[in-house]
Amino acid sequence: MDGCEVVGIKNGWLGFIERQTIPLDLRSVSGILPRGGTILGTSRTNPYKNPEDLKKLLAAHQALGLEALIAVGGEDTLGVAVKLIKEGLKIVGVPKTIDNDLSNTDYTFGFDTAVNIAMEAIDRIHTTAESHHRIMVVEVMGRHAGWIATCAGIAGGADVILIPEEPIDIEQVSAVIKKRTARGKDFSIIVVAEGAQFKDGTMVAKEEKKDAFGHVRLGGIGQVLGNLIEERTGFETRVTVLGHIQRGGSPTAFDRVLGTRFGVKAAELAIKGEFGKMVSLQGNRIVVVPLDEKAVTMKTVDPEFYGIAKLFFG
Ligand code: F6P
Repeated sequence: MDGCEVVGIKNGWLGFIERQTIPLDLRSVSGILPRGGTILGTSRTNPYKNPEDLKKLLAAHQALGLEALIAVGGEDTLGVAVKLIKEGLKIVGVPKTIDNDLSNTDYTFGFDTAVNIAMEAIDRIHTTAESHHRIMVVEVMGRHAGWIATCAGIAGGADVILIPEEPIDIEQVSAVIKKRTARGKDFSIIVVAEGAQFKDGTMVAKEEKKDAFGHVRLGGIGQVLGNLIEERTGFETRVTVLGHIQRGGSPTAFDRVLGTRFGVKAAELAIKGEFGKMVSLQGNRIVVVPLDEKAVTMKTVDPEFYGIAKLFFG
């Protein structure tokens, strides 16, 4: 890697707002294994929102004489990468999002860390639930997919897990809680994904304003649900929103290994000049798939997997 340069990007793609160039040698990445976040200063920015931004991006790319770009991100970042490939940019994709919602890979890195953080939180919340005979609602992230909720919920022994893939039936949730009471269990843990919806299609957002990719900021379903549960069951109910805690801190061993494997493969592809591709985990193997529209379509929780979670409701 001697003599290469990478572009540190402030405020999004290729630093069309502000940019810095840092020399890359192995020391540049030395010491980052236990760190979350970005060392380059990248962020989720949509250069296609404003035609002027795209022009600046392409001009910056040319001025820097970049030989390759490695796009690391989820549906939004890689969606932009797919479009930029069509503009002629040489890009390799790496799937990274806590949501685990990308179609063409079994896992994205970041997901395992978020699940472990949420699981630990659920473990801790059990203490208050049991001691105070309460219903504890835990709201987790994941946008429109219920991967974090399902996995953290199973791992943490949640009594009900609610995900965007299946509408919330509040009567059913209350029935589960009451059934538990009849069995002498006077507490329950309910895990709800931020994107879960009620049967009538109601989804709860923090604000109506949309981000550059057209997403509303989700959040708040936990409190709405908590109120309804308290009303229907008479149990004192408390709500915890885990929020960005799930996205921060030190990655798990699984994510460190997966990130390393993805990174090595992505570098190999760039060196060989194989662009327009994404690295992907399939089974336990790192494979290469096209970085195209299919790669950035949403992967939701399949009913069979959610069915396993459901076996333990109540
Ligand atoms: O896509 C990752 C994610 O953490 C989602 O789970 C969440 O809805 C969203 O990003 C939050 O975005 P922001 O940090 O912009 O509020």
